[in-house]
Amino acid sequence: MAEEIIEETAGEQTAATLPKARAEKRKRVVSGMRPTGPLHIGHFFGAISNWLKLQEKYDCFFFVADWHALTTHYADTSQVAENTLQVAMDWLSTGIDPAKATVFIQSSVPEHAELHLLLSMITPLGWLERVPTYKEQIENLRDKDLGTYGFLGYPLLQTADIVIYDADFVPVGEDQVPHVELSREVVRRFNATFESIEWTGSLRSEKAARRLFAALKHVYPGAFEKIQILLLDGVGEFDLAILRKNVQTLLNRLPIEERMSFLANENVDLERVLFEPGHLLTETPRLPGTDGRRMAKSYGNGIWLKDSVDEIRAKAKNMMTDPARVRRTDPGNPDICPVFSYHKLFSNAALIEQVNHDCRSAEIGCVDCKGKMADGLIRWIEPVQARRHEFECNPRLVWDILDAGSRSARKTASTTMRRVRKAVFHWDEARKKDGAAGPAIQSAVISPASSAAPALNSGAAAPTSSAAPLSPTPVQSEEK
Ligand code: TRP
Ligand code: SF4
Repeated sequence: MAEEIIEETAGEQTAATLPKARAEKRKRVVSGMRPTGPLHIGHFFGAISNWLKLQEKYDCFFFVADWHALTTHYADTSQVAENTLQVAMDWLSTGIDPAKATVFIQSSVPEHAELHLLLSMITPLGWLERVPTYKEQIENLRDKDLGTYGFLGYPLLQTADIVIYDADFVPVGEDQVPHVELSREVVRRFNATFESIEWTGSLRSEKAARRLFAALKHVYPGAFEKIQILLLDGVGEFDLAILRKNVQTLLNRLPIEERMSFLANENVDLERVLFEPGHLLTETPRLPGTDGRRMAKSYGNGIWLKDSVDEIRAKAKNMMTDPARVRRTDPGNPDICPVFSYHKLFSNAALIEQVNHDCRSAEIGCVDCKGKMADGLIRWIEPVQARRHEFECNPRLVWDILDAGSRSARKTASTTMRRVRKAVFHWDEARKKDGAAGPAIQSAVISPASSAAPALNSGAAAPTSSAAPLSPTPVQSEEK
């Protein structure tokens, strides 16, 4: 396969700050795709082929981003459900395996929305307005009114998608790196604001404690006097024990920026509420459409994973070639010919070499060359289509896989949200102080699909995390 993970960039926390159980497990990767409908081979080579590799190595969460589709396509939602099914069929038939990866629907895990809301409280508008693609997209999609709150907030929704699973990595192309960087900044700010849970209460050294104390003096000269009375004993001795006990109170009095710089200096040990994701920089060579332009539905130049063999042959025959090669006897230049780009993916090394040579010397004609390319493409796509056919005959199986995946994802997301809610509101402590029963919200979190399934937080055996029994024999897609 042409594209490779070229760089693994971790977020700032080290393994030491991750919960122990997590640090020892496979690293987690989260990625989503909008339900745009059936996928073309450009989608495959641009994203899915990478997912296939990731699912072998990482604990993957792959979801249909139906809420993301709404950020630009809110005006017509009639196709979202059908498109979700089609996307999932293409994933499964190309080898995305629910026994290896958690495959689910974003909106079936409403916790994404709850986290998005909480993140929105602390995210400065300017951070979102400055995301490089924001203004550009509004310009590009002129036919739509994207002056909406939802569209502005989409990178924040994406942040929620990622951090709700404590993801270690997000696979991204170059242009998406700023989105992950935004995620990291949001996480840092969120943690600085709410990071009180599981407070270890320990300042690493007396020196650090004194620094925090000094920082307060600087920010709140007036209030500082009162705090001082509160924390220092009668003689005015610096009492580290009292200071430790009140460290949260002290920290909360600092403005967020000050808190962030204080925490960033690593003067304080604490358990983080959310974790900064890293990114896997993935080079995804763009597969041209049949006319040489970017492959896009709106250009009518795509080859779809579900295209019939006859359609594929016809599309191959009509493909654009080197425009300078007018007559059969003219030498051609495969480097600028989209047919040759396809050869590189679908033909064996010998044929690629032969075409490369015979095109330049005019020993092969374009009709012939296209026919040979189509042979390879069809050989590659046939097993995909055979599996797709099985799913088309049994769409319920696909829904069941998505719904089982969503239940499993929701279990993980709920765990994070319990931690987040606790950090933001301290409801548990407030109730406990007055001897009230547990919060309603935890028992209200039940699995979305079936009332027979156990509640997610009941601790009872939940439905199996993978949809293994439902999945057809996993078949690896051919790599060329
Ligand atoms: N941003 C992608 C898109 O809009 C899909 C997406 C949503 C995503 N959430 C994500 C990708 C989280 C990676 C991680 O098409
Ligand atoms: Fe393209 Fe093949 Fe024709 Fe060369 S011979 S221009 S590679 S189609």
